[in-house]
Amino acid sequence: MKNLFTPLLSFGFTLISATFAQAQVVTIPVETAHNALVLQSNVAKQLNAIYYGKKLSNAPEYSAIPDTYKQAEDYTGLYNAAYTAAGSRNLLEPAIAVTHADGNNSLDLRYVSHEVTKQGDDVSLLRIELKDPVYATNVTLYYKVYYKEDIIEQWSEIRNTEKGTITLQKFASANLNLKANSYWLRQYHGDWAREMQPEETQLTHGIKTLDTKLGTRINLFMPSVFMVSFDKPAGEDEGKVLYGGLEWSGNFKTDFEVDPQNNLRIISGINNYASPYELKSGESLTTPAFWYTMSDMGKGEASRNVQNWARDYKILDGKGQRLTLLNNWEATYFDFNETRLSGLLKDTKSLGVDLFLLDDGWFANKYPRNSDHTGLGDWEENRTKLPHGIASLDKEAQADGVKFGIWIEPEMVSPKSALYSKHPDWVIKQPQREEYYYRNQLVLDLTNTQVQDFVFHTIDSLFIKAPGLAYIKWDCNAVIYNAYSVHLKNKQSQFYVDYVNGLYKVLKRIRAKYPTVPMMLCSGGGGRVDYGALQYFTEYWPSDNTDPLERIFIQWEYSYFYPAIASSNHVTDWGKQPLKYRIDVAMMGKLGFDIVIDKLSAADRKFSQDAVKIYDGVKQIIWHGDQYRLADPRTGSVASVMYVDASKSSGVMFNYLVNSRYGEGSPTPFKLKGLDAVKRYKLQEINLYPGSKSGIDSERVYSGDFLMKIGFNPAVNTSRSSVIVQINEVK
Ligand code: GLA
Repeated sequence: MKNLFTPLLSFGFTLISATFAQAQVVTIPVETAHNALVLQSNVAKQLNAIYYGKKLSNAPEYSAIPDTYKQAEDYTGLYNAAYTAAGSRNLLEPAIAVTHADGNNSLDLRYVSHEVTKQGDDVSLLRIELKDPVYATNVTLYYKVYYKEDIIEQWSEIRNTEKGTITLQKFASANLNLKANSYWLRQYHGDWAREMQPEETQLTHGIKTLDTKLGTRINLFMPSVFMVSFDKPAGEDEGKVLYGGLEWSGNFKTDFEVDPQNNLRIISGINNYASPYELKSGESLTTPAFWYTMSDMGKGEASRNVQNWARDYKILDGKGQRLTLLNNWEATYFDFNETRLSGLLKDTKSLGVDLFLLDDGWFANKYPRNSDHTGLGDWEENRTKLPHGIASLDKEAQADGVKFGIWIEPEMVSPKSALYSKHPDWVIKQPQREEYYYRNQLVLDLTNTQVQDFVFHTIDSLFIKAPGLAYIKWDCNAVIYNAYSVHLKNKQSQFYVDYVNGLYKVLKRIRAKYPTVPMMLCSGGGGRVDYGALQYFTEYWPSDNTDPLERIFIQWEYSYFYPAIASSNHVTDWGKQPLKYRIDVAMMGKLGFDIVIDKLSAADRKFSQDAVKIYDGVKQIIWHGDQYRLADPRTGSVASVMYVDASKSSGVMFNYLVNSRYGEGSPTPFKLKGLDAVKRYKLQEINLYPGSKSGIDSERVYSGDFLMKIGFNPAVNTSRSSVIVQINEVK
């Protein structure tokens, strides 16, 4: 069997088999609305990915696609495995590497069978069974296909059917093989209050890695989402571009390897850093999904596909409604009492938003949570601040005609807390080393089922105490230092993986009991935003940085990968922009406020109340419509973004000055997008500050054709730094 892989015999085998080989070649086209990923099992049953690009109109022709690696393989050993195994004929970065029970490090995966099951009009699931001809290691590859949205989710299930224990040294979810003359990677980095900073560079030969090793709050420095453009950087409406990301809230690793033949292999999965994963006989590991999509029409189309997919399938209640809110974090920080909160409940009502969100500081008695040094883990109401508990706040909110929501950070523990004293073995820390803190706190060991129960009951008890509880802000403010679990004993290398699976178990349990309650995914800002977590959350907090100028850039980049309905945008006192600018920017998602309402001038207060009503009138378009980017703040002095409803009869266009130097503004019209060329529209400026007048003629009628070819100038300048225009069809 082993001889089969020597070059000579392999060549001979191919020749001998050639005459009857055709029958054995299995071609599996994975089609979406515009694209096809074509897999092919050759005569030796090696499963290769021979093509990913525009689909053919005649499906039988897929089998005639020349395998561009084929020729190279005979000379250089490069090949395009659908799921690349280490230790046999692979010479590049593998997707999977296994040490067998006997210590052997080789793996070779051969095609056994495949089947497709329909999961709905739009969704189907392809399963491909692979097995090693020598060792009893089996892998199932999964391709979940979202036809309309041109999206594929890919993952693997690795099963050990050997007698002994095997160790997975690497266990990526997927690898893709792509072919172009050049590849341009758009990647993101960041830090607290600086999320989603883009960089775009040409990939050179060798490996570029995007990864994280933070354990929790994993996107603090880098998210897993990326774009790769082919042959040149894609524009908003032209160019070929692939988007991808991993559905995993823990350590990830994505490698981009350009090989000597100029092929690009992308391998994405759980980071194998410090994580060799053991599988006992009969055990299996299912890897998280790697999602990807490709567009020939530029970044805009790709992002609309992702946004539609996210709303339809990936975000909890993605097609539903959201609650506008008033949050007290920046208004009070830790310093509040029942009287202050009663006032804020009244402010919530008078502002016209749906819910009051009580932030950090409401809990702990032995070590009251009066600063970020104490109390995490002691989730009972602080008796000084809230002598009547959250039950009474819940009732008061109901009496005031608003809803009540609460902040919690249930994965964490303060060293100064009753929980830490009682259960030191529940805390992630090295037994013999000094503790090391991130934001003065430590992380609880969610690999431990007792800790999972504790976290579940913590959330459950909030709902039991306050049955009207309508919203949860779930925070996660620390990374993992000194990774060690008392519970895992000598299985420490499973820690990073089991932590995330423990977290998902808790979230699943919460969702089984409270399926629809809106929850915000927060992690000191956008430290944890991914589609693994978002299936349990209705929205995320992009950044603690709420300076609207910064938010224009941050929200712009997030919008490539996540829809506006999931973006929690709060109006705060950050930044130097006027209130109108701050509110306008926050409207491009789910609007909230975190300001002291009773300190607003009468005019600002009235403006805010009116703004909430105006937002209520356009929010369905923003949440459920199609988003088009018209002017990029990174390349000009104005940012312009519009949303259009499905019937193309109403839209809303947001325009902001991002550079206040002399003479900057919108001197030429922006071409609108996504309208119906034959429909006629009126454009009206909305959310004007009291006393200001718009120069925009709201009676003028334009054809969609005109607006999309000639455009419209919102006349943004230093005295009109933020302009919202509503677009309505004239019937
Ligand atoms: C994190 C969040 C903030 C706030 C604080 C409370 O930083 O991102 O919005 O909730 O925690 O401590």
